[in-house]
Amino acid sequence: MGPSPFADFATEVRSLKLAIIGTAGVRTPLMLRGVLRRQERLGLTDLCLMDSDQEHLDLIRMVSEPVLRQPQPSDDKKAAPPLRVLWTTDAREAIRGADFVLTTFRVGGIRSRVIDERVPLRYGVLGQETTGPGGFAMALRTIPVILDYVKLIQELAPDAWLVNFTNPSGLITEAVTNHTHMTRMVGICDNPSSMQREIARALKLSPDELFVEYFGLNHLGWVRGAFAKGWDVLPELIAAIAQQRVKLDGLPFDPQFVAALGMLPNEYLYFYYHAREAVQHILDAGKTRGEQVQELNEWLFAELRRLRAGGSESDIRDAYVSYLVKRGESYMATETGHKPDLEHLQASAEEEGYEGVALGVMECLSGVRQGTAILSVPNRGAIAGMGESSVVEVTCYLGHSIVRPVAMGCVPEHALGLMKQVKEYERLTVEAALSGSYALALKALALHPLVPGYAVARRILDGYVSEHGDYFPKLH
Ligand code: G6P
Ligand code: MN
Repeated sequence: MGPSPFADFATEVRSLKLAIIGTAGVRTPLMLRGVLRRQERLGLTDLCLMDSDQEHLDLIRMVSEPVLRQPQPSDDKKAAPPLRVLWTTDAREAIRGADFVLTTFRVGGIRSRVIDERVPLRYGVLGQETTGPGGFAMALRTIPVILDYVKLIQELAPDAWLVNFTNPSGLITEAVTNHTHMTRMVGICDNPSSMQREIARALKLSPDELFVEYFGLNHLGWVRGAFAKGWDVLPELIAAIAQQRVKLDGLPFDPQFVAALGMLPNEYLYFYYHAREAVQHILDAGKTRGEQVQELNEWLFAELRRLRAGGSESDIRDAYVSYLVKRGESYMATETGHKPDLEHLQASAEEEGYEGVALGVMECLSGVRQGTAILSVPNRGAIAGMGESSVVEVTCYLGHSIVRPVAMGCVPEHALGLMKQVKEYERLTVEAALSGSYALALKALALHPLVPGYAVARRILDGYVSEHGDYFPKLH
């Protein structure tokens, strides 16, 4: 029910607990750097860092502890409250009394991603982490686990906000918001905010000077407006892209096609607009993205194990930074055939990507400021033609425990049609995960627009069942 409206908020002492579930992931040191920068503003007093994998948690802790000790530039003059940091494998302890629970885990680890992506490629179908069959398999593995965490949150931290990064992020948000009583949840992805940063860079503005109108589903969205200094400058930007006067990173599309669309597609739409080329590029490379990342991770964790026995802090940092560079410069490169601009990649290393979105959202939801962010939330009429409760990814207004999607009205039919078809596949995938029904799972997969029908869907699903073993639900 919340506090009395007459409580004396002015004298309230802020004390905030953040729990991160899935802390053994490689992005943790970046997240912690961002957390520390905002510690004072957030009034953060307790940080619980949980993962079920003790060994990887210890190794990531080794990279993170120097980050946690570093004094951070802060724009708040007050002294930071003392910060209690707890590293744990105990989810209950992490979640108890939390104000924010940030989920960023990967069920089955990178090994499962490799299977998710490999199986469909055998049938000439896209093998990708979140788009197509890969995202379907990941969702079936992940939905039961997120629902268990939701139960824990409802028991141990009923007022907490769940900020979910766990992929497939939109589908997971769809499952939780439509099948539990959890209403305090947002789904997060760093792609829309990197589009915003790219647009700002091209226009020589700071991202805060720009209001971006974004709509779609997670990893399936479009920028259809960019307001700066009182005007929508997107048409001019698209004209400049078409005339090749401006080039945006993360836009692996023919400039003429972008001009014809009149919107900027999220890079993940490459898997739809260039469905055939994407598959061919991956097959030609002989290695999936999951396999690339698996090699990079094995290298990093082997280095960290070696350095644990006597490496210096700077050796550890160097290993981590070189890992991030290798991962960043190869991101989406095989799939799209477009290499990122390396100079630009280096220049943006200090910018807050992934962590910036989550922490900005926490600032707003905890009442520090108001703002906007592009998030996965129930539609509530924002996109005409999409269901009320269907989770969409859209520009949102944020305030103290308030998230409201900005009304988008009508969107182009081709975009709406694609969204509706993918949303129905998502909805059926959630139902399959909840019921454990083989028939429903097969129906969901067969209806995905990137799967060429029922027979191929069946082979892919059977491949997942036999290769995933215990990390896949027992379908009946
Ligand atoms: C982007 C997406 C994430 C995705 C990641 C994959 O950041 O927004 O949802 O997990 O890319 O990157 P990777 O390096 O693992 O291929
Ligand atoms: Mn994402």
